[in-house]
Amino acid sequence: MKKIIKDRGAVYFNEGSWATLSNILENLCPSKVFVLTDTNTKTHCLELFLKNVPFNIVPEVLTISAGERHKTISTSVALWSELSEKGADRRSLLINLGGGVVTDLGGFVASSFKRGIEFINIPTSLLAMVDASIGGKNGVDLGILKNQIGVIRNPKCVIIDSTFLETLPEEQVISGYAEILKHGLIHSESYWNAASRFDIKNKVETDALIWGSVEIKNEVITEDPNEHGRRKTLNYGHTLGHAIESYLLEHSNKEALLHGEAIAIGMILATYISSEENAFPKSKLEIVTQTILRSFPKVTFSDIDIAAIIKLLIYDKKNDNGKVHFVLLSDFGSHTMNNEISNSTIKKAFEYYKNF
Ligand code: GLY
Repeated sequence: MKKIIKDRGAVYFNEGSWATLSNILENLCPSKVFVLTDTNTKTHCLELFLKNVPFNIVPEVLTISAGERHKTISTSVALWSELSEKGADRRSLLINLGGGVVTDLGGFVASSFKRGIEFINIPTSLLAMVDASIGGKNGVDLGILKNQIGVIRNPKCVIIDSTFLETLPEEQVISGYAEILKHGLIHSESYWNAASRFDIKNKVETDALIWGSVEIKNEVITEDPNEHGRRKTLNYGHTLGHAIESYLLEHSNKEALLHGEAIAIGMILATYISSEENAFPKSKLEIVTQTILRSFPKVTFSDIDIAAIIKLLIYDKKNDNGKVHFVLLSDFGSHTMNNEISNSTIKKAFEYYKNF
């Protein structure tokens, strides 16, 4: 079994991971076990989970509506009430079975209920396996603004079983792929090249990329768990990506993008800005753009859209003293942080994206 062992935030991957979970449960000996699902994972993933984990007491299943729109404080309030009504105490355990919305929100609910109960993440989407379930960022959106409320607190452990991906719709697979590409950009050209060959039908290669991304993310969060420095690189492409995601969420007449789809655009824009401001090689910019556009939909933005997206940048969590800060690259795996970028450069980046 592939594993990263730590007291909190351990990760166990594929063969043997369910048996390890059973041992962890035995040692934790929780007073009650709650399993948080959404309407999709209740249908597609709960059975596999229950088959693999022999519980002495049948766990209580809690279910929220699927989708980013439900990653809110009101969903959290409903869950806190349900936990309370069903007799959860400080020794209860919450197991989050789902994608990034379930692991982010479930981690937040667990971390604040009775000042913090234990939780375990079982990611069922590619995005949650390679990114969201690891590193302890838990939280909810505030209106359209992403992840504004939350805490950093690691789960007891993360159990990854890539067979869950067999039930995942294609667009969700592609959404998770964006984060694997991000790991290539921030880590090394060799990981970028491996990520470029991603094909979900090739299970061996996909498993290797999932584990490669887990290791990259783990290296970064171990060095900088609270995002004072290097962890900011994990937000590469997210400054504009989150603003695009929020803007489209706010405008119901426009088609919303999945997180990874918005981040894919954000990564093209950030890499263009890196080439203008930080000497990222133009030839590599072209390869990055081509690779991303091979898998991700191209979106049209009007000048009005772009102006509104730029306005949303003030809510980015990397900002300091009212200044918008970007992580930029000078090559694959070489970054600089806290770059202040002018609106005119951002507009040029959108122009580059449009004309590519
Ligand atoms: N998803 C970015 C981070 O965990 O820091």
